[in-house]
Amino acid sequence: MTSSLHLPSVSRIGGNSLSELPTVLAELSLTRPLLVSDPFFVANGLLDRITRCLHSAGISNGTFSDCVPDPTTDSVKACVQAFKQSGYDCLIGVGGGSSMDTAKAAAVQAFHGGAMRDYKVPATVPRGYPVIAIPTTAGTGSEATRATVITDTETQEKMLCMGLGFLPTAAIVDFELTMQKPFRLTADTGIDTLCHALEAYVSRKANAFTDPIALASMRSVWQHLPQACHEPENRAAREAMMLAAYQGGMAFSNASVTLIHGMSRPIGALYHVPHGLSNAMLLPTVTEFSVSAAEPRYADCARAMGIATATDTDRAACHRLIDALHQLCSELQVPNPRAYGIDQQHFEASLQTMAEQALASGSPANNPRVPTVQEVIGLYQSLWY
Ligand SMILES: NC(=O)c1ccc[n+]([C@@H]2O[C@H](COP(=O)([O-])OP(=O)(O)OC[C@H]3O[C@@H](n4cnc5c(N)ncnc54)[C@H](O)[C@@H]3O)[C@@H](O)[C@H]2O)c1
Ligand SMILES: [Fe+2]
Repeated sequence: MTSSLHLPSVSRIGGNSLSELPTVLAELSLTRPLLVSDPFFVANGLLDRITRCLHSAGISNGTFSDCVPDPTTDSVKACVQAFKQSGYDCLIGVGGGSSMDTAKAAAVQAFHGGAMRDYKVPATVPRGYPVIAIPTTAGTGSEATRATVITDTETQEKMLCMGLGFLPTAAIVDFELTMQKPFRLTADTGIDTLCHALEAYVSRKANAFTDPIALASMRSVWQHLPQACHEPENRAAREAMMLAAYQGGMAFSNASVTLIHGMSRPIGALYHVPHGLSNAMLLPTVTEFSVSAAEPRYADCARAMGIATATDTDRAACHRLIDALHQLCSELQVPNPRAYGIDQQHFEASLQTMAEQALASGSPANNPRVPTVQEVIGLYQSLWY
């Protein structure tokens, strides 16, 4: 069987790699970038710092700083308008998944036109304007993926859009940008990475290239996430998490995510639960539902993370994995939907729609055990109780 691989053309990885942004632009013959980010990075001075770095290299840029968490078709439209104003030739997405995804979506929409929903899976998406992705959350791996996730303002659907057009041309992966992340953001985005790696490894589209990268990513998250959460100034832990996030992105972009992400998007869209946190709510339960269909694969994961040993049977390793995921969620204070404050009546009334949207995204079809609508509803209900 042939595996397809899609990766950014240029990557710079390591502390202070941000300073190489002008060199990366020169390597790609790009001269007029639009910085795309959110208000947090105006307030903390990062956008000023990047602008000064570009200016000192003779590059003049514009700035769009109105990205919103879980970007919407409206916020992308505003970014497209800003891009079209001034003859820019590329976009630099700086921030978490929300800013990078906004830049990626705008790059395609500005180039090809149409509405964002024209690009949701299973549409094919050709190259648009080049994007340089600079992550700050060590979670989504969007800097390495062919995906962007945009909420339709009219329908509230959190749309998964996949295609070559959404793959950044370059990624600058500088862990120094994550040193100020607070506990909750560190925990949520780190669990997002763990889900990317685990889902990529058990996915029906896993392949010989993605397997070792996925295992390396999950091993690293398991070793370093608690430390990054509890010792925020631990540089080694931050650096390891940033690399793990990039590896997780590479793995799932080329092997797909599965049921956790499929079920997570509707929770995010309806209740504005941060993406990593809704994944975390689902991680142990969905793993428990799925293991019987791929025990050897889940056992590999448990062994890679040091949760099980080579002498454990696959079944014993799977049990250890499920217990360990529950423990991690408890250590990182992951609430269930009730404790998060979601209205129970609303949640119950939305079950059918959430389940249908989860399945329609296509991700659950790559799960080792492919659920029915009724099974997805049952899984959502079991989260509540
Ligand atoms: N395209 C992909 O491949 C992909 C993969 C997974 C998730 N996603 C999407 O990414 C989005 C979530 O991204 P995210 O989890 O990175 O969070 P985010 O981008 O939504 O950011 C959350 C908040 O954290 C702040 N923040 C970012 N970096 C910070 C830092 N270093 N220090 C302090 N605060 C910081 C932001 O300003 C924002 O207010 C969701 O929409 C999700 O669906 C995309
Ligand atoms: Fe994710």
